[in-house]
Amino acid sequence: MTGKTLTAGRRPSYAWTVHVVSVQLGRRSYAIQIGAGLIEGLGRECARLKLGARCAIITDTNVGRRYAKATFNALAAKGFSPSLIVVPAGEKAKSLKTVQTCYDLLAAHRLERKSFIVALGGGVVGDLAGFVAATYLRGLAFVQVPTTLLAQVDSSVGGKVGVNLKAGKNLVGAFHQPRLVLCDLDALKTLPEREYRAGLAEVIKYGIIYDAKLFAQLERDLPKLLRRDRGALAGVVARCCEIKAEVVGQDETESGLRAILNFGHTIGHAVENISGYGKYLHGEAIAIGQVAAARLSAQLLGLPKSHVDRIARLFRWTGLPVTLRLNAARRRKLLAVMKLDKKVSGGEVKFVLARRIGKVVFGCKVPSELVEQTLNPQPSTLN
Ligand SMILES: NC(=O)c1ccc[n+]([C@@H]2O[C@H](COP(=O)([O-])OP(=O)(O)OC[C@H]3O[C@@H](n4cnc5c(N)ncnc54)[C@H](O)[C@@H]3O)[C@@H](O)[C@H]2O)c1
Ligand SMILES: [Zn+2]
Repeated sequence: MTGKTLTAGRRPSYAWTVHVVSVQLGRRSYAIQIGAGLIEGLGRECARLKLGARCAIITDTNVGRRYAKATFNALAAKGFSPSLIVVPAGEKAKSLKTVQTCYDLLAAHRLERKSFIVALGGGVVGDLAGFVAATYLRGLAFVQVPTTLLAQVDSSVGGKVGVNLKAGKNLVGAFHQPRLVLCDLDALKTLPEREYRAGLAEVIKYGIIYDAKLFAQLERDLPKLLRRDRGALAGVVARCCEIKAEVVGQDETESGLRAILNFGHTIGHAVENISGYGKYLHGEAIAIGQVAAARLSAQLLGLPKSHVDRIARLFRWTGLPVTLRLNAARRRKLLAVMKLDKKVSGGEVKFVLARRIGKVVFGCKVPSELVEQTLNPQPSTLN
């Protein structure tokens, strides 16, 4: 089953228009709502899902300061009894230590089997709160209220939840699908510019891996998107969620197709790692990774040069990095790190490569020397 339906959904009184995308996973199916002012309607949606009265909102300091009160009030107004858990902002909070703190607070607030958790924040909060929900009392329901562009188009959909270990990112986790995802476009207004542009790297990815029309629309509408025009954003966020829903609906646990979502991520993750986490935002690192993957695709799958150029240009227009200057030692380190990535199977690095914009292939073997060459392009081949 796939999540094909994109309907101009029910129109709740609190929003001008709401796109509804459904993730079709049998009994675990759920809706993603995309629109402005949706937080206000959170209590109503949770009541519709017949979730238990007691709940906890998990958020971070940045997001909590701005949106916790509205979220709390929306739930309380419909008879829910929320407690608020605020974790420090940033990747460091995605740890077992924070998970432990959350468990203690849930116990103090007497959450029970029918209770639920609201993840209010970016991907860090979504992954952390989702993991807490997956494990506390052997699994509680949870609702995602993503507040970064990256979280709205990617991390809040699909049920991958987890935390980091010292040894690496996302090493402990689970598949635990939310009961509802509410993408409130108004929340994006306060997102720092650099975070917003980094989120656009995932948006562009959907165009490359799945939808040439979306890619062309991004080329056309980028100025509107950079202005965070609500109308342009609504359609684009909905289309990205629709693509993710369709992919996850076909391959929930990443045994095949879901791998296409990793386009640009093999090199991107290694870039994040060797630069020291924090230098590049995830979206910036995967912009570099996607341009490198496009160049590899040209050599190995015949991706037309004009498509490679369009890909590099769109990332550049978005203000994202497309190349990385590395000396030979750092290049070797990057290759070594790539081989340690948890997605490597049998010691071989597998790439997602593109035949053309809108069509990719996963599981491609790429010789290390070619990766190294691509990361060290001669000035004449730089776009
Ligand atoms: N589960 C998945 O499928 C999946 C997919 C991709 C990424 N991820 C994970 O997502 C995480 C990255 O998520 P992210 O990029 O959203 O980062 P993030 O959650 O750290 O948010 C980025 C920053 O923006 C702030 N912020 C969030 N919303 C805001 C708002 N509306 N206004 C002002 N500030 C706001 C946060 O406090 C933080 O400082 C990583 O841990 C990554 O592993 C998970
Ligand atoms: Zn990503």
